[in-house]
Amino acid sequence: MTRLLGPVDTAIDLARAAPGLPEQALADALAQVAPQLAAHARTPGYHPYGLPELRAAVAERFTRRGLATLPEQILVTSGAQHALSLVLGLLGRPGDRVMVENPSYANALDAMRRARLRTVSVPVTDTGWDVEIVESTLRQTVPQLGYLIPDFHNPTGCLMPDDERARILRAAQRSGTWLIVDETLAELALDVPPPLPFASHGASGQVITVGSMSKTHWGGLRIGWLRAPAKLVTELAGQRVATDMGGSVIDQLLALELLERAGDLLPARLEQARVQRAALADALAEHIPQWTWRSPPGGLSLWVDLGEPIGSAFAEKALDHGVRIESGAYFATDPGLFEQRLRIPFTTSPDTLHEAVQRMAAALAQGLSPSSVDRRPHWVA
Ligand SMILES: Cc1ncc(COP(=O)(O)O)c(C=O)c1O
Repeated sequence: MTRLLGPVDTAIDLARAAPGLPEQALADALAQVAPQLAAHARTPGYHPYGLPELRAAVAERFTRRGLATLPEQILVTSGAQHALSLVLGLLGRPGDRVMVENPSYANALDAMRRARLRTVSVPVTDTGWDVEIVESTLRQTVPQLGYLIPDFHNPTGCLMPDDERARILRAAQRSGTWLIVDETLAELALDVPPPLPFASHGASGQVITVGSMSKTHWGGLRIGWLRAPAKLVTELAGQRVATDMGGSVIDQLLALELLERAGDLLPARLEQARVQRAALADALAEHIPQWTWRSPPGGLSLWVDLGEPIGSAFAEKALDHGVRIESGAYFATDPGLFEQRLRIPFTTSPDTLHEAVQRMAAALAQGLSPSSVDRRPHWVA
């Protein structure tokens, strides 16, 4: 117990790949929002589809990125995770199959388990997807749903090439699978041009695109969205009323302001991520040279190969040394996989990353106890 209360409070958090929002951007946006509130406060304030202005702005953003979109195709949600849960709740029945990447975003896998869906996994390796496996999985298992993170995949950082997107879209169309495409990280393009929306690569009638402001702006906004055929959006809005009636007007006004300034904010955020990625790489090379990784073209984390299957034991030990981190196993569809991996986010300052790596090196030097019971609370972003 003391262990949980002691180091957790002061530990450097490398479990969440989640950057903060610059103070000035927040102050400027809040100043713009305050005078708009009075007009909204005179209305009931329930917007199950999302604030109309924000829906329009998100639709416009898709259109600008190369995928013509109307506001009625957008549902504003409390983050990408909420969007995913709404879709799983509406389109998935217990026992239905869902095709997922392995590894994948841990909270998405958790949502699928809680919805009692059966996962069928397709591998994502350091070199990306094997489209033939994806195609044959769709053909042979005919899943009701598929969940993909094609843009700077969490946790591997891989970017799916355009031709593979087109092939997977065609295969999903043939199997009648609804594809949920999570574009939460799409704008975190560090070394390459930002990818086009997945749904722009072919017939998108059965594609639901999920997006978020959590990585481009701030997770604490709790603003995300989904893009789907308008009829499905109406059904999802019904699902949404049953859960929370709609999102906060204040949060959505703030999100709208921030979205309108995305062009000012994003370049600095990308530059910061590049600097932090380099700092993490340097610190690892200096203090733990036996660990290896491929530098991802975008995203917010390194998918590090530890050279031996020690991920969970290491994460346990790292907490004793003041670093909270998750083993690669936490991102696996099945127990026992990816124990040789660690996802290390580069979302904190270079100094903090350097300190974290030094602490991790010290943890490693002490040796690991393979059979210790994992008592850490698990929680990633
Ligand atoms: C791929 C992916 N999807 C969804 C989420 C959750 O996003 P949100 O904070 O918008 O719910 C994250 C956050 O880490 C993510 O990396």
